[in-house]
Amino acid sequence: MRRGKFIVIDGPDGCGKSTQAGLLEKYLRSKGYSVLVARDPGSTSISENIRKILLNPRYKEMTSLTEMFLYFASRVQLVEEVIRKALQDNKIVICDRFLSSTIVYQGYAGGIGANNVRRLWHLVRQIKADMPQAPTTGGFEPDLTIILDIRPEIGFSRIAPRRGGIDRMEQKTLLFHKKVRDGFIRLTRSNRKLYRLIDASDSIEEVQNKIREVVEKYVL
Ligand code: TMP
Repeated sequence: MRRGKFIVIDGPDGCGKSTQAGLLEKYLRSKGYSVLVARDPGSTSISENIRKILLNPRYKEMTSLTEMFLYFASRVQLVEEVIRKALQDNKIVICDRFLSSTIVYQGYAGGIGANNVRRLWHLVRQIKADMPQAPTTGGFEPDLTIILDIRPEIGFSRIAPRRGGIDRMEQKTLLFHKKVRDGFIRLTRSNRKLYRLIDASDSIEEVQNKIREVVEKYVL
């Protein structure tokens, strides 16, 4: 049985979600909660290796469908190896990105279609539930996805000075990243119970305070 809580923080590149996830982790720990932070794609040996392929600027020819399957493969491993267990152990899981990113990056912006991505993910969960060695399917659905909204021009001005170069996804066109932002906004409008949109152009402290408010109200 799943008992913990599953929070996802997502948004366009440069929205500050990793910083905010770390601050939320500290805050929840200070309140006595047991917390696990993961990043998607990543946080398992297999998922980190898939991540390297996905973000390698050499693979310019990679199609949206290939991307989607690789993100799915990485995520399935993350759920199986890390998230499910943490939820069973009654932890609060904070995940830096999750399915919402595939819906937006590959679905809306990459041309696959948001509903096609959702349908395929649903199928993955069904297959998992049908497998005899898997009595539980818990871990696939976040309790809340917080989207940090930022214009791509501002997001990229934050990323560029911080790192040596930009990765394969970040190298996509400005138009692609505008679609990504639009996709995240649409996604939050599609289900106001599961998604919350927070303006990430404010200061780190202000954004963190809004995140805490939302988490306290809807998750704890
Ligand atoms: P990160 O920079 O937040 O670690 O994420 C890596 C990149 O992968 C980022 O540009 C967003 C992208 N991405 C997708 O395109 N689809 C997905 O499903 C996920 C999880 C990330």
